[in-house]
Amino acid sequence: MSESKTYIIGPFSQLLTFDNTSLRGALINSDLPILENAGILISDGKIIKIDGFEKLIKSSKSENPIVEEIEGDVVGMPGIIDAHTHICYGGSRHIDYAARNTGVSYLEIARNGGGIWDTVTKTRNASAEELYELTKIRAEKCGANGVTTLEVKSGYGLSLEHELRQLKIINKVNEEISIDLIPTCLAAHIKPKDFEGGNKEYLTYLTQELLPEVIKKRWSKRIDIFVEEDAFLVEEARKYLTEAKKMGFQFTVHGDQFSTGGSKLGVELGALSVDHLEVSGDQEINMMGKSNTVATVLPGASLGLGCNFAPARKLLNAGAIVAIASDWNPGSGPMGDLITQAAIMGASEKLSDAEIFAGITFRAAAALGLADRGRLQQNMISDIVAFPVQDYREILYHQGQIKPKFVWKKGKII
Ligand code: NIG
Ligand code: FE
Repeated sequence: MSESKTYIIGPFSQLLTFDNTSLRGALINSDLPILENAGILISDGKIIKIDGFEKLIKSSKSENPIVEEIEGDVVGMPGIIDAHTHICYGGSRHIDYAARNTGVSYLEIARNGGGIWDTVTKTRNASAEELYELTKIRAEKCGANGVTTLEVKSGYGLSLEHELRQLKIINKVNEEISIDLIPTCLAAHIKPKDFEGGNKEYLTYLTQELLPEVIKKRWSKRIDIFVEEDAFLVEEARKYLTEAKKMGFQFTVHGDQFSTGGSKLGVELGALSVDHLEVSGDQEINMMGKSNTVATVLPGASLGLGCNFAPARKLLNAGAIVAIASDWNPGSGPMGDLITQAAIMGASEKLSDAEIFAGITFRAAAALGLADRGRLQQNMISDIVAFPVQDYREILYHQGQIKPKFVWKKGKII
């Protein structure tokens, strides 16, 4: 007898499908398509059909599906997509964190030799095995929290050898664990202190030596750059991104975290997303509102730095595509719990459940240029998370304290 690969999972007390939910702009909870007592028919990791659980069992008899019946109330939704993290790092920056809480700023700490450079040193000094283990443990923690697609940046190597090592490790973790890791090359995080030459020379070195290797090894299709006075200036970034684009890279920008400029550049060049936006003003907000570049807000960085949240409410009202990501990193965002962060930001920024869940599912998929996930629809990958509640509004109400009961990656429980 051949093994059936067709499954029905359910019943879900409520299923948030996001079928036809608007990609951009404000949403209210009544915009959410919610199915009650729903089931999902899955074959070969893809969604075949969604319907009432009992109805689905009857209508799909000929396919002889295995029924995985869920006991007790659960609310299901697409697997969570965290579109911005830096989890491949060594060491810890608790000393920076404590210093910031006495009033020293993030940029001052960096200027005094702490900050990103400190993590670069610790990451370079970590063995490949150690870095692999640390990255894997962090990715698995995200998986347990319902994340089924996780973007992971390099950016703590900052040399040909060490950037490639980070990307190799991220790819290896991707092969070893069930959730998808999407590697992004962030070699343009800052100019490393041991590089002889200026920003311009460093970016040329990346374009001429590192990026061709990344292509050859197929370790990342995406690049990122930190646009900031203390990192790379707008015009430096313009040249780098333009060259990388010609080489076929997709790109994203760390922009408007401490000063504006990055978002405008990202939108002009057609970045998939501009991330941060804490200091974006009306001009930037209106621009993002009209752009197809996703505005990815990072509440974890605001919580880690003790600063204001990005203007998510205004961005949504302006019509922007707003994704929400954790920015898990050792400096500005050490927490790494996306639901907790999104819920807290939501209470402060006045975001609806619909806007928050959209921001961590299909809108986050758009930030990564992924069209095959983020909504529960026919032909989408069957990445699903189920929370042990009756009503979807209980999830954010508990601000991250309710953990998923089940997570399915391509239809398989993890
Ligand atoms: O997204 N802003 C630049 N990069 C990271 C922080 C990196 C670090 O502090 O180690 C961020 O906040
Ligand atoms: Fe970041």
